Amino acid sequence: MLNLVIFGAPGSGKGTQSERLISKYGLHHISTGEVLRKHIAEKTELGKIADTYISKGQLIPDDLMVRVLEHVLDSEPELVKKGVIFDGFPRTIEQAKALKKMLESRNTKIHAVIGLEVDDDELVRRMLNRGKETGRADDNIDTIKNRLEVYHTQTSPLREYYQGEGKYHSIDGSGDINGIFERIHKSLTERVPELTEYNPDND
Ligand code: AP5
Ligand code: MG
Repeated sequence: MLNLVIFGAPGSGKGTQSERLISKYGLHHISTGEVLRKHIAEKTELGKIADTYISKGQLIPDDLMVRVLEHVLDSEPELVKKGVIFDGFPRTIEQAKALKKMLESRNTKIHAVIGLEVDDDELVRRMLNRGKETGRADDNIDTIKNRLEVYHTQTSPLREYYQGEGKYHSIDGSGDINGIFERIHKSLTERVPELTEYNPDND
């Protein structure tokens, strides 16, 4: 079993690199942003609440977000058995502590945190492009600015938190997508012993 967190600013490539990690290591993907966007599309109660925060580029409150993740883990217990890549969670120290507890109570833990480092100008370019191509509602310049501000103030302290746990892999997230994945794979192979023992079919 192998659990990874993919961490980084909005637009840093968490979703893009998750796809590579999933096909390489056979992990399940939990993107809290995607979970919330699905609720918004289906106009559920949670979706209505989430929309008010996402459209402003603010974080959904920790207690609600933790309950959402707990629900995802409980509704699909096989996810945790095989291993998960957490994309977009945790985003605050409080969420990181809650995730630790959630995994401990399921007899597992986070093995590594992949931190994608990309400068703000490049992030803005990527998100504006995607906004034009896909129409994702929070990819407009005002919301992007708020998302980046929220990242720098509320989320980036997690870097130190996971460095303190010896789990943080700092990865240059700029340039060619395949090249970035190679850097991730190399760093994990060198520093995560569970990776070499890991076989998704046996676990
Ligand atoms: P979420 O969906 O997690 O969005 P985000 O963090 O803003 O990140 P993105 O999905 O925009 O970017 P990404 O890092 O996945 O990059 P991607 O691969 O798509 O969260 C949305 C909102 O939900 C939050 O703002 C918050 O309100 C709420 N929320 C979610 N989780 C929460 C939580 N835990 N607590 C509280 N609130 C929460 O790439 C971006 C673009 O760049 C794509 O178009 C891609 O094709 C392109 N690209 C990728 N890599 C490269 C490359 N190397 N070169 C050029 N282009 C590239
Ligand atoms: Mg994403």
